[in-house]
Amino acid sequence: MLRRIESAEPTKTDASTETGTTAIEKRGGDTSRPKLAWITDPHFDHAKLETWRLWADELIAYSPDALVVTGDLSEGDDVAYQLRCMADTFDRPIYFVLGNHDFYGKSINETRRQIIDLTREVEHLHYLTDSAPISIADDAVLLGDDGWGDATVGDYANTTVRLHDFELINDFRDSPSETWQATLQREGRDSGDRLSIKLQSLPTTIKHALIATHVPPFRESCWYEGRTTDENWAPFFVCGGVGAALRKAAQANPHRMYTVLCGHTHHDGDAEILPNLIVHTGYSRYGTLDIESIIELTDDGFHVPRTFASST
Ligand SMILES: [Fe+2]
Ligand SMILES: [Fe+2]
Repeated sequence: MLRRIESAEPTKTDASTETGTTAIEKRGGDTSRPKLAWITDPHFDHAKLETWRLWADELIAYSPDALVVTGDLSEGDDVAYQLRCMADTFDRPIYFVLGNHDFYGKSINETRRQIIDLTREVEHLHYLTDSAPISIADDAVLLGDDGWGDATVGDYANTTVRLHDFELINDFRDSPSETWQATLQREGRDSGDRLSIKLQSLPTTIKHALIATHVPPFRESCWYEGRTTDENWAPFFVCGGVGAALRKAAQANPHRMYTVLCGHTHHDGDAEILPNLIVHTGYSRYGTLDIESIIELTDDGFHVPRTFASST
């Protein structure tokens, strides 16, 4: 059974935070620990309906107790539509963060407000950026935050990269380019601050923390074709703010294991940052829909085997 940890501090999003208790019942009186299906960067707006149906069937066949989605579900108003479709299809809690594409067509705050409103309305939807840590077992929690490529790693001053984000997210589109770096840094810092509050709220009984975020929090976890990022791309593909929060928490609590799930680069890889801090970065390809992993929790912690079960 999953339930919310009530002692955690509220998050700092500009809308009100979720309240109440979240719980799922395992099927058939099963008393084993829950298993979680991890999805990243589905970009549903690029997938055909038949692809979606095959993927949903495959997902249901795994019979996970909950879904964890690490961002880039779609773009604009289609994000809320896709979340509703998922909630209608999967009779299980859906825990998610948003990726940069999810903010296209609106401002960052406007998107978050819309999605928070949706989660108030639809029981199974839980926006982790807006949520306190979720208890998965007596010794394990799930928590998360969107993260952002926050221009704190790599060479922002000389980068040649111009993401669509700057044309399609109002915070950038409506402001001169000289202000973009400060906006990126603010988003990363805010993500790190929100995550720190949640990480610091965990009781000492928690031995395993699963953290969902969109942007790789460390350069070492920012994979592309089997290598990690270069100076040109790093400003937009690493969230230094979240990385700093995670590193600080892991160093302060050496007996707690921190397992991080992220996406954004669309290229998979694993990185051990500290003995008790590992980051799994997920794979994605536009037009296909995959199940990145069926995550099992054992006494040793979270196990994240790669599934790569493309349904196309
Ligand atoms: Fe993506
Ligand atoms: Fe992304």
